[in-house]
Amino acid sequence: MKRPALPALLLLAVLALSSCASDKPVVDVYKSASCGCCGGWEAHLRAAGFTVQSHAVDDVSAMRERLGMPEVHASCHTAKVGQYLIEGHVPAADVRRLLDESPDAIGLAAPGMPLGSPGMEFGTSQDYDVLLISRNGEARVFQHHPAL
Ligand code: CU
Ligand code: CU
Repeated sequence: MKRPALPALLLLAVLALSSCASDKPVVDVYKSASCGCCGGWEAHLRAAGFTVQSHAVDDVSAMRERLGMPEVHASCHTAKVGQYLIEGHVPAADVRRLLDESPDAIGLAAPGMPLGSPGMEFGTSQDYDVLLISRNGEARVFQHHPAL
């Protein structure tokens, strides 16, 4: 009568671990060692519950090209989360939504360095769009962020 208890507990443990893993997605960030705002974005992601693995690279644009993010959408860093690329100062909520909706796409980009985006909280904040980059390189607005 007591035998089923252990497998049931193991199942619960496995479920707990797997839900833990999906709640704390790992983000690999490729950036220049001297990039301060990149560190600000990493802190924003950690605060939002992501696990951030930071990689300093000598040539960020070469890495961007290698990872497969079109140069036209370039910002200061390129990150990888699951199957997706995240270019620049994309808010954590947008990354979560991308993972939830799981579209067939390269990933998200916040081209340039919009003031007021996560990690860029200085000066006068500006409107910016986070773009969903499809596999053919086309971009459409994924989320509009009004100036703060
Ligand atoms: Cu930046
Ligand atoms: Cu950056």
